[in-house]
Amino acid sequence: MSVVNQGSPETASQVQSMFGAIAKRYDFLNSFLSLGIDKSWRDEAVKTVFEKDAMRILDVATGTADLALALKRERITAEVIGVDFAEPMLAIGRQKAAKEQLEVKLEPADGLNLPFPDASFDALTIAYGLRNFSNYQAGLIEFYRVLKPGGRLVILEFPPPPKGLFGQLFRFYFMRVLPLLGGLISGKHEAYEYLPTSVLNFPAPDVLATMMKEAGFDKIRYKLQTFGVSAIHVGDKS
Ligand SMILES: C[S@@+](CC[C@H](N)C(=O)[O-])C[C@H]1O[C@@H](n2cnc3c(N)ncnc32)[C@H](O)[C@@H]1O
Repeated sequence: MSVVNQGSPETASQVQSMFGAIAKRYDFLNSFLSLGIDKSWRDEAVKTVFEKDAMRILDVATGTADLALALKRERITAEVIGVDFAEPMLAIGRQKAAKEQLEVKLEPADGLNLPFPDASFDALTIAYGLRNFSNYQAGLIEFYRVLKPGGRLVILEFPPPPKGLFGQLFRFYFMRVLPLLGGLISGKHEAYEYLPTSVLNFPAPDVLATMMKEAGFDKIRYKLQTFGVSAIHVGDKS
């Protein structure tokens, strides 16, 4: 089955400047708007990475480096590199790493064109970044390229809200309450109006799994987190 190539409704430079503009408030808003549950979603990703013996890990669209730092905390001997194309987000990540004295390399790079040779990493993670890519499938193919054979991809992303009562409530929160609060607190309304749009545009979990298969991944599995607010997808390069 072939899946239609899709990508973020915003251009890469719009996404880049949006995250650059909200960087200072990003961490606070993340935990505030998710009621602190986002930490448990990232913790599950860390656990999934270390089911395998990962020693060299790339966290793409690392933002303020929460996942990169959690990976390093879990395995201090691992080499963890985080990349993102919004420098102000990386700057906050570097401050956090220095405060905790965690050695994580945080470098500017486009996730669609990673500055690493083929087969460089044991694991590649991306948390809430893929839905911002201008081409999701091209992102998955690029992730496959830089993974070593036997390497593992772990994706955290917000799938489109589920159907049913919870889905309706969540849709209301996501479409109405969250853009209002996020806009008020960050002062950047467009960034928090873009968030629900990017989520509604993102493929459903089974479609994302098919796209991973098409990119070459194997042993693909996914699990919904917190009633489908978030999802974790895992795939291996054989
Ligand atoms: C919602 S934040 C997620 C940050 C972090 N991974 C986390 O879990 O909090 C999305 C990040 O993706 C980055 N991003 C989006 N598209 C990108 C691309 N093509 N290349 C690199 N970074 C990208 C943005 O700059 C932003 O920092």
